[in-house]
Amino acid sequence: MDGEAPHSDRVIEGARREHDARPYGVLVVDDEEAILESLELTLCEDYRVFTARSGAEGLAILDREEIALVISDQVMPEMSGVDFLERVRERWPDVIRMMLTGYADLGSLIRAINEGRIYRYVPKPWDPAELRLNVKRALESFELARRNRALAEALREANERLRAENLYLRRQVERRSFFDRIIGSSPALQRVFEVMEKVAATDATVLVSGETGTGKDLVARAIHYAGPRRERPFVAQNCAALPETLLESELFGHRRGAFTGAHADKKGLFEVADGGTIFLDEIGETHPSLQVRLLRVLQDGEIRPLGSTETRKVDVRVIAATNRDLRREVAAGRFREDLYYRLRVVEIALPPLRERREDIPLLAHHFLDRANQRMGRKLEGFTNAAMDRLVAHAWPGNVRELENEIERIAALAGDERRVGVEMLSETVRGRLPEPPADTEAQPREWDLNRAVDALKARMIVEALRATGNKSRAAEKLGIPRQSLQKMIKRLGLEGREPGRGATGGRSG
Ligand SMILES: Nc1ncnc2c1ncn2[C@@H]1O[C@H](COP(=O)(O)OP(=O)(O)O)[C@@H](O)[C@H]1O
Ligand SMILES: [Mg+2]
Repeated sequence: MDGEAPHSDRVIEGARREHDARPYGVLVVDDEEAILESLELTLCEDYRVFTARSGAEGLAILDREEIALVISDQVMPEMSGVDFLERVRERWPDVIRMMLTGYADLGSLIRAINEGRIYRYVPKPWDPAELRLNVKRALESFELARRNRALAEALREANERLRAENLYLRRQVERRSFFDRIIGSSPALQRVFEVMEKVAATDATVLVSGETGTGKDLVARAIHYAGPRRERPFVAQNCAALPETLLESELFGHRRGAFTGAHADKKGLFEVADGGTIFLDEIGETHPSLQVRLLRVLQDGEIRPLGSTETRKVDVRVIAATNRDLRREVAAGRFREDLYYRLRVVEIALPPLRERREDIPLLAHHFLDRANQRMGRKLEGFTNAAMDRLVAHAWPGNVRELENEIERIAALAGDERRVGVEMLSETVRGRLPEPPADTEAQPREWDLNRAVDALKARMIVEALRATGNKSRAAEKLGIPRQSLQKMIKRLGLEGREPGRGATGGRSG
């Protein structure tokens, strides 16, 4: 056998050197040298012909060379043609298989053809022209199949790429849409976005801190929905909303009979949120015993329902929020230090609105657009004076207070196009000092104009008393003397003004 290998190699080299234009490799396998030579002669003009004296040799050539078509003799000493072609089919299913057959193993031949194991058979002796034609047709179908396959492959790849791109884009859009709900361009908020973006992709526990109304909820949700857990639940629980035992059973679940009123087993939120995220709002309000339980979940990923002796594994990401200074709570002994450190693996501190006033115009417009839509108003914006007041206000209730302010303006608006100072609430307008304490005791005045008049009247009277002089009172009130005079008249305060004698020669 070893002696034969150089022979076929020689043919290969020769074929390559002389006929680079022949695209297809054809392998001929026969144990009779004469037949190999004859077939090679028949085909070598159009194809790169390789010859092998046995099935094993043929397989070795197939291993090395690009072969499109195999012609094999049926009866050979070691491996029969059917066996050889069967092996070819297994390893190179695309290679076209032809059987050379001179005599009567017709039964196995027909079976092989019927079962699709060979393409066609070539009778011995063959007519060279006919053989060439058959090989040509076979290769045409081979080529067609190959191109189809290549196209289908390209199509599949393109589809896959498209799907991946779609998924990526959808994720981007989803993430953007959640991040987009958070309005703000201040450097402080940009830093918050950066941290959120990084932390969203991880399972890290996050502590969101900030005064009430700074957007802690919004941030927690955005982190969840921008991350890989987005398809799983986001479960929120306000820890200040429930008494201790109820909260514990809410979070960890309970077994039937664990306490009075526990009529049936109940799944806790940690289990409900399995695979997702649990948002523990106002974590600073939790009792020490609950803090121990929370620590356990964070450390071991285990929960134990009330009244149960068994623990369960849960896979839950924890995001906690607080409007307290937790560090100070720790120092005061009201919050476990170990839990504090577990929670603040990543801390996102949301600055109060008054420390990022540059976000106020954006937010105000955002809320105005939304209110317009909701209430069918046509408010296009704010007068400069009104915006100045919005920016100057201290917003102790932060973004939530601003949101409410704009909603209120839109609700009370008529067909105005711009929000003017007079449409702002009194606290925001801010010209007026904080109402004196005694207003609390008085019945609330709901008619805005009358309430304003009442306040004006009181302030005018106070100013007059304090200065004893209309000019100085006007100055103190920040209005022209004539306006004060008119108001005194309109509000019926004439009797209250200081007497002539008192003002006498001091009037200026
Ligand atoms: N940066 C922001 N952009 C848009 N809306 C915000 C922003 N921050 C807060 N809000 C809105 O203000 C309100 C209060 O936010 P929330 O997340 O509930 O605050 P917190 O949980 O800190 O009290 C919500 O209606 C929220 O949608
Ligand atoms: Mg909140």
